[in-house]
Amino acid sequence: MPSEFDAVIDRGGTYAFKWEFRRHCKARDIIPLWVADMDFEAPEGVRRAVQERAAHGVYGYTLLPESYYQAVISWMQRRFGWEVRKKWIVFTPGVVPALNFAVQAFTEAGDRVIVQPPVYYPFFLAVENNGRELLHSPLRIEDGRCGMDLDHLRSVIDGRTRLLILCSPHNPTGRVWTEEELKGLAELCAKHDLIIVSDEIHADLVSPDHTHKPLAALLPEMADRIVTCTSPNKTFNIAGLQMANTIIPDKELRKRFQQTVHSAGIELANAFGVVALEAAYATEGEAWLARLLDYLWGNFSLLREFAEERFPDLRIYPLEGTYLAWLDCRALHPDDKKLKDILLRHGVWLDEGSKFGPGGEGFLRLNIACPRTLLEEALERMAAAFSSAMK
Ligand SMILES: Cc1ncc(COP(=O)(O)O)c(C=O)c1O
Repeated sequence: MPSEFDAVIDRGGTYAFKWEFRRHCKARDIIPLWVADMDFEAPEGVRRAVQERAAHGVYGYTLLPESYYQAVISWMQRRFGWEVRKKWIVFTPGVVPALNFAVQAFTEAGDRVIVQPPVYYPFFLAVENNGRELLHSPLRIEDGRCGMDLDHLRSVIDGRTRLLILCSPHNPTGRVWTEEELKGLAELCAKHDLIIVSDEIHADLVSPDHTHKPLAALLPEMADRIVTCTSPNKTFNIAGLQMANTIIPDKELRKRFQQTVHSAGIELANAFGVVALEAAYATEGEAWLARLLDYLWGNFSLLREFAEERFPDLRIYPLEGTYLAWLDCRALHPDDKKLKDILLRHGVWLDEGSKFGPGGEGFLRLNIACPRTLLEEALERMAAAFSSAMK
């Protein structure tokens, strides 16, 4: 049966970051499966809300109304059973800004911040661009999927370590952390008095066999050291509207974070973002999300079946969450950057794993959030690229 997500939408002329790269690599026909946004329209309710707001014609400074906070609170309650209070919510224009503000607010120059690579590379930038020291505690590969290495983590924490940035669910490895893993990590952080910034932007994008648990909801007794980054950006494909909500139950941490946000001059929101978030988090958005998840995991099955038949040497990690598949290409080619170039020459762009730090070498990240026909075409091109890489 045809799906609303089958429609191939020309994103030309919209300044789409994902597609406009073609100018840079001077190729004309390349399917971009790299940056994490989807080639799908946002839910109809979201589009309607934005269109109605646009039709008004006056786009002045915009407050965050009570209905905005209630929409966020209701979503967290309905999806995760997490009772969030209004005063815990701090708006920022994106999760990446929130990560930078968190590093500025909770650490001092020269302090150490832990990340768990391979991981979303702006984590590294949020630490280093703010003059803090980056500490890697890489994930461990166990039975064809990534796991936390708490022994390594324990060994890197020292007296100058203040903060850990967690990615949950994890981009790029597709892990949805189990309660046991999250508890182990949080207990270790508590023992060493670390603050945890938990980036949960992918929280809604979880396979039917897995459940995402917000860290602060799982461990309310530790919520005074947990700062949770949330956003409708990934879920509803509205990253261009730049809305994010950082949830901070602890009064002191919240005050420090708020001061940092305000000192950057941020107080008001994007007029379109406010109405888009409210519409997305309404019940209609939830029904759309259920259909989206169905489609995404259909795409993942297609990828797996195609790979089994056409490039069996590729190892595909289980996709528990996110729409970013993590491909172990080491049996195909030792160098992920060279492999990416070969793929580009065959008309498909994936991200090289080494971009995500230690442990990413020899891997590729593939964004499956596109119409199925586009994915099929991309897979054919990948098959041609892989066979030329192995010659
Ligand atoms: C883990 C993670 N955090 C944050 C972002 C970006 O967030 P935003 O667009 O709200 O700044 C992404 C986008 O890929 C992501 O994967």
